[in-house]
Amino acid sequence: MKFHVLTLFPDMIQDGMNTSITGRAVENGLIEIHAVNIRDYTIEKHKKVDDYPYGGGAGMLMQAQPVYDAYKAVAGEKKLRVVYVTPQGRVFDQQMAGELAKEEELVLLCGHYEGIDERVLEEIVTDYVSIGDYVLTGGELPAMVMMDAISRLVPGVLNNDVSAEFESFQDDLLEYPQYSRPEIWNGKQVPPILLSGHHANVEKWRLEQSILRTKQRRPDLYEKWRMRHDKGGKSE
Ligand code: ADE
Repeated sequence: MKFHVLTLFPDMIQDGMNTSITGRAVENGLIEIHAVNIRDYTIEKHKKVDDYPYGGGAGMLMQAQPVYDAYKAVAGEKKLRVVYVTPQGRVFDQQMAGELAKEEELVLLCGHYEGIDERVLEEIVTDYVSIGDYVLTGGELPAMVMMDAISRLVPGVLNNDVSAEFESFQDDLLEYPQYSRPEIWNGKQVPPILLSGHHANVEKWRLEQSILRTKQRRPDLYEKWRMRHDKGGKSE
């Protein structure tokens, strides 16, 4: 999977992604992070990439030309999926991560200042995506959030492929509580069923815990799960 990130802060992207699990995936050639500095593509002699908005208003806008030329340098004649990370987009979730993980190449466009000239967005953007209903200072953190969530779905990125499947948000349920050694810590005992060695009972307990936890912490997800599993129309 190859990510092209169009940004004014390529170091932020490289530093963030070349760390930990995504860093190892880069080293192993499972993912590639190509951070493109939009400023390298401006034709303005002082390397300026922003200007005042027509009609007035606060702040500066990123201009169309450098963004378009940076995109063209990456895509050439290829028609790539281009995600503009913006609070005005559809809210990113696990399902979207799975959908985007199917692409071989993905372009992520990071805005700054008050946004980007609408004309270039109309020209190149295929998807408008937000990471949540709050406003950040730029698109780099959202782009990294999305790349992290997508990368871990690429086969081989996690040591253990099963763990990407069976955890929070799979099937709309949150993950069950987990415990490691010692058996008693701070006076608290590990639930005895986990020490029983009875695999089927452990699985049953974990599913019950997942359902309970989802109901308590994320009633919205629980409702989705319940609707899908509630064949007879009765509630849990
Ligand atoms: N840029 C600024 N805030 C953002 C958000 N919440 N999601 C995506 N891009 C953004």
